[in-house]
Amino acid sequence: MLALASVAVSATGADVPARAAIASAHPLATEAGYKMLQQGGNAFDAAVTVAAVLGVVEPYSAGLGGGGFWLLHRAADKFEVMVDARETAPAAITNSLYVDENGVPVPGATLKGGKAAGIPGVPAGLAHLARRYGRLPLRVSLAPAIALARDGFNIDSRFARIAKVRESLLLEGVNTARIFLDNNHAPQQGYLLRQPQLAATLEAIALQGSNGFYLGPVAQALVGAVKAAGGMWQESDLSDYKIVERAPVRFSYRGATIVSASLPSSGGVTLAQTLNILEQFPLVDARNPASAHLVIEALRRGFQDRMRYLGDSDFVKVPTATLVGKSYAHSRAASIDPNLATPIDALSITPLAAKSESYNTTHYSVIDADGNRVGATLSINSWFGSGVVAADTGVLLNNEIDDFSLGAGLANTYHLLGGAANAIAPRKRPLSSMSPTFVEDAKGVMVIGAPGGSRIISMVLFGVLDYVNQGKVDLLGIVTAPRYHHQCWPDVVEIEPDSFSAEWIAALTAKGHQLKPVNRKWGNMQAVFKSGVDGAAQAASDPRGFDMGGY
Ligand code: DON
Repeated sequence: MLALASVAVSATGADVPARAAIASAHPLATEAGYKMLQQGGNAFDAAVTVAAVLGVVEPYSAGLGGGGFWLLHRAADKFEVMVDARETAPAAITNSLYVDENGVPVPGATLKGGKAAGIPGVPAGLAHLARRYGRLPLRVSLAPAIALARDGFNIDSRFARIAKVRESLLLEGVNTARIFLDNNHAPQQGYLLRQPQLAATLEAIALQGSNGFYLGPVAQALVGAVKAAGGMWQESDLSDYKIVERAPVRFSYRGATIVSASLPSSGGVTLAQTLNILEQFPLVDARNPASAHLVIEALRRGFQDRMRYLGDSDFVKVPTATLVGKSYAHSRAASIDPNLATPIDALSITPLAAKSESYNTTHYSVIDADGNRVGATLSINSWFGSGVVAADTGVLLNNEIDDFSLGAGLANTYHLLGGAANAIAPRKRPLSSMSPTFVEDAKGVMVIGAPGGSRIISMVLFGVLDYVNQGKVDLLGIVTAPRYHHQCWPDVVEIEPDSFSAEWIAALTAKGHQLKPVNRKWGNMQAVFKSGVDGAAQAASDPRGFDMGGY
């Protein structure tokens, strides 16, 4: 599975280095992406195909009912852009739908049912990528997804495991038991999953572009289903949906150029802040205990600012230029004690209760022979999203409204706190952590990203640190290396199980960090690399996705 998911192909034979590489969370998506390259498509066509296939074969992670970010690099003129296909809040949204008169969150309101779903952006994103950047028509690039939805595919162990975990959501959800369960039980590995209605919706998009989704019968069915499930979508929410092309966040770290997601993702800003802080110190190896202390302190400060300042920049003023600048990092770095964790009170964050966690999303990376690149992180938020499928469309809707902040001290499913900058407002995009990223230096260019909610940012941070520290790129090493995570609040450092020595734990505990081993490894990082020396390309998929039971 692993090899198939991430293999780089050579058009000319196995003994010639591949020029193109694709890494995705599912071998069927990766294969279909390569097929597009072989049919004369570029990285952007392959990106359309991979996203659409992932929506069919990993319906629990992302799909037409979700949103996300595509980070693009066009080789011909080095143009770089982030296609923001993040979900928007419907026009009729108010915070009071999610919080009672005492300021207490209504259980499940942001996570289940029609109120939890934002207006999807993926269909508009696919149509935009194909029209503006691709060479192939949607009817070609969507064909593999249509075939897999119509004819079915045999589910893998990962699907079976996730469906089991979410069995009760799927049983109670709208049309979800009929589509995703086998006689009201989580299907076993090998079960043939057919989604003919999703195939028809994909066909409508193939024929009419985004109008096939945002106007007409599909749009009407979506609005009807959301209303019936307690939500407040109107047809105008769909017809008004627009992707936005945004300038990515760009900065340098020790001579490497980093390009990452801009607002409404916090990813690039928080990554820039943490790396700029770390640049003030001698070379940082994320897994050496002395350096890990610095990494945790940098993350603490970066995530504190995420909470304080970040939100949809179309709605709120965010001091982005200051936050990502070197001089601000200088002042933030000055408050780090090399020997002791900074107490949470010194950063004036009030610890409060959080909700339970559940993760899911998908990332893929593509680089073609010409050097066009795509890093895409797409999501319906938690596993199987809101649990609402609009009848006859096969579209499983997201629960991305949970990424908004409901009020001071009210954490979301990723234990993230936020402020007014990320408050609910009509048509606003919830703050994301999804961080498709390019890292470029004399060695070449790496495209990376991962699912994992707030942990995405620390995963990508490690990816950058490891890449910059390596003389020769070990891509599998980068996606496999052990992980820890800190996000300012809660004031704990999560560590992957069986990954750090007793000495490592003791050294960090002695500096005042509270370490919390969690019960599963996390992440499903997908990376590609193209050598700046000879153009050879390689891909690597995180073994956690299939082999290690990780998220
Ligand atoms: O946009 C975000 O940050 C989240 N909705 C992403 C969710 C996620 O990565 C879950 N993954 N495992």
